[in-house]
Amino acid sequence: MCAGPVSKGLSAQDVFIAYRGPATSARKALVSICPLCHCESSSRTRAGEELSMNHHFPDSAVVRQAVSLASRAPSARNSQPWAWRVGAQSIDLFLDDIGQPLRSSGDHRDAVISCGIALHHMRVALSAFDWRSVVTRLPDPVNPCHLAHIEVEPRPGTARDVALASAIPRRRTDRRRFATWAVPQDYLDLIELRCADGGAVLRIASSPDADGARLVVEVQDGDASALRAGEATGVVLLEATVLGLASCRLTESPHAPAARDLPRLRLLVPRPVSQVMVKVGWPEANADPLPATPRRGVDLTTVFDPAALTVAAG
Ligand SMILES: Cc1cc2nc3c(=O)[nH]c(=O)nc-3n(C[C@H](O)[C@H](O)[C@H](O)COP(=O)(O)O)c2cc1C
Repeated sequence: MCAGPVSKGLSAQDVFIAYRGPATSARKALVSICPLCHCESSSRTRAGEELSMNHHFPDSAVVRQAVSLASRAPSARNSQPWAWRVGAQSIDLFLDDIGQPLRSSGDHRDAVISCGIALHHMRVALSAFDWRSVVTRLPDPVNPCHLAHIEVEPRPGTARDVALASAIPRRRTDRRRFATWAVPQDYLDLIELRCADGGAVLRIASSPDADGARLVVEVQDGDASALRAGEATGVVLLEATVLGLASCRLTESPHAPAARDLPRLRLLVPRPVSQVMVKVGWPEANADPLPATPRRGVDLTTVFDPAALTVAAG
């Protein structure tokens, strides 16, 4: 029998409402029906209404919001090369180049990095909605396009989770020249720390006082290096946004191997290193906010397994 997971106050988003019995009044008997163990347990909203919740997996409204936030990730030429599959207990991320076919190893690498940023944003969004994610990267050895398998467990989100999630729609690729105000070393130290939490190394590649600071994210994780580098790039971009900094992904890291050297380097370096270069800095004084770039809608990027659909009735 399930104990029910969430002890904090619930919002309408957090609950899966299942109605049982005739609609006799506005205060209907609402019970939880867990789709996995079929137990029934109820909890109360702040307003005192009995609501049910699925404490194994977020309801479809939350999943849709999380996918929507993940899709705000930046991607090379805004190609959005990702596809999501939502099951009853998991979310899977796939590389999808239907929009813009990948023509070179550089395109492929950029697409995987973009997916890594989307994966990071998905995890941030889930955390803000009170779900901790556990990720298996490259879970299918025969399908390299299957980039990640995400399972979740309930865990109350922190104020920081919410701050990061709410920064997702505010972030822009800002290609304008930045102000000459120096990026505080404390800020860079914090970003470096957050990258290290995710297993990435952050190097400061330029003096932080002229047109922003150039940062190089570096990850060494075998075949998952590019994906993990994307995730670390997501860390840099969102932490910078929360701090009020503008950011821009720079085309090539000064230390990244040229594409023509890759086959030779693969022989020499058994564990490939992936690097992404990002510029962060203060926008020019009084710079206007940049408009958002368009994204494909959730229904164009996501397949919902029928078992994952939660139906609210009544
Ligand atoms: C892997 C990757 C490579 C990118 N390459 C470039 C680039 O070469 N030149 C550029 O101006 N922007 C580049 N961008 C930024 C994208 O063009 C930008 O993310 C996209 O247009 C969406 O806009 P937004 O970031 O403001 O949401 C890149 C972004 C990523 C994630």
